[in-house]
Amino acid sequence: MGATVTVMMTGAAREFITPLSLQVASQNAVHTSLFQDPLAHIALPAQADVLVIAPATANTIAKLANGIADDILSTVFLAYQGPVVIAPSMNWKMYEHPVVQENLRKLLSLGVMQIGPDCGPLACGEEGKGRLAAVQDIVDAVIAALSPKDLKGQKIVVTAGPTREYMDPVRFISNRSSGKMGFSLAKIARNRGAEVALISGPTALRPPQGVVFRQAHTSDQMFRAVEEESEKGADALIMAAAVADFKPVRQSGVKLEKRGVSTIAVDNTVDIISSISSWKKRPFIIGFAAETGSNIEKAKAKMSGKNMDMIVFNDVTEKDAGFETDTNRVVILDKIGSTSTELMSKDEIACIILDRYMKIKT
Ligand code: CTP
Repeated sequence: MGATVTVMMTGAAREFITPLSLQVASQNAVHTSLFQDPLAHIALPAQADVLVIAPATANTIAKLANGIADDILSTVFLAYQGPVVIAPSMNWKMYEHPVVQENLRKLLSLGVMQIGPDCGPLACGEEGKGRLAAVQDIVDAVIAALSPKDLKGQKIVVTAGPTREYMDPVRFISNRSSGKMGFSLAKIARNRGAEVALISGPTALRPPQGVVFRQAHTSDQMFRAVEEESEKGADALIMAAAVADFKPVRQSGVKLEKRGVSTIAVDNTVDIISSISSWKKRPFIIGFAAETGSNIEKAKAKMSGKNMDMIVFNDVTEKDAGFETDTNRVVILDKIGSTSTELMSKDEIACIILDRYMKIKT
């Protein structure tokens, strides 16, 4: 990511790890005392784009909430005017203590962003809510803190992943969608200040924090969830889900025996985009066309056939693009024209799609 990192350590931090380790890891001088460099508490805040306190102990949280400035970290906090992310970590009983909760509420009301703690085994041997958030979640929170809030006020519904169309309780028709594109869109829209509802089929992904997350296994469940979330006044609906096109005509309540099943009769599933795009007052609709081959004309026809406002086309036969990968290469078509991307991460593709949406909206 290329950030320049300057580490400050409290006395408690130095009991666990040496400054030298963090100096090597950060490739930068480590600040351990208020008096090591008498003007560091003014110079460091002036240079920083974001202040990250991870792990944040109950003691540090209490100091920050009450303006106590008796070490380099708490002093820099007072002299810093940019975004602050804290990742609390402590025993679960300490975390639940009303004093700690009151201190956190105070910090959050001042605009500090909190990530975690997670539930699970704690250093003390107990289990509960107190584990430091996963490193990737802390990095995501830092990126969110640094993102422009140009989608503030926007309500965005995103679908992701495949649907499963059951023929009996153990067998279903589905597809290879991993959900990664939809999850990236939900995360980036949230980072940029949108209110996000993420409706997802079964995936192996962890939902981003700070979004309304709804699971929808079948196309019918996804349709109902999309209707409910869109009715709440959604500005945009982004259908990144690979909704199954067929469902078995009959769904057996018991597992079918293999003898006697030679064909499976199927019906088309409800077309979610077509249904929502027929509403009188409807959200801006962004659909996806995952095709085999560079069939742009087919994507164009899908956009107008389903009355979408934008379609994101990709060729799933290309290497490193489409299903299950972390990268993609797309062509975006809409009423103002089209734009093609290089091969890039799905997070970057999500940024470009949302930029394009904002350009058309405004
Ligand atoms: N879609 C939908 N409801 C369905 C199927 C698809 O809303 N029952 C949405 C998808 O989420 C996607 C877009 O429609 O955003 C295009 O999906 P795709 O399966 O490519 O389109 P189909 O019209 O089903 O075309 P095809 O015959 O190529 O499968």
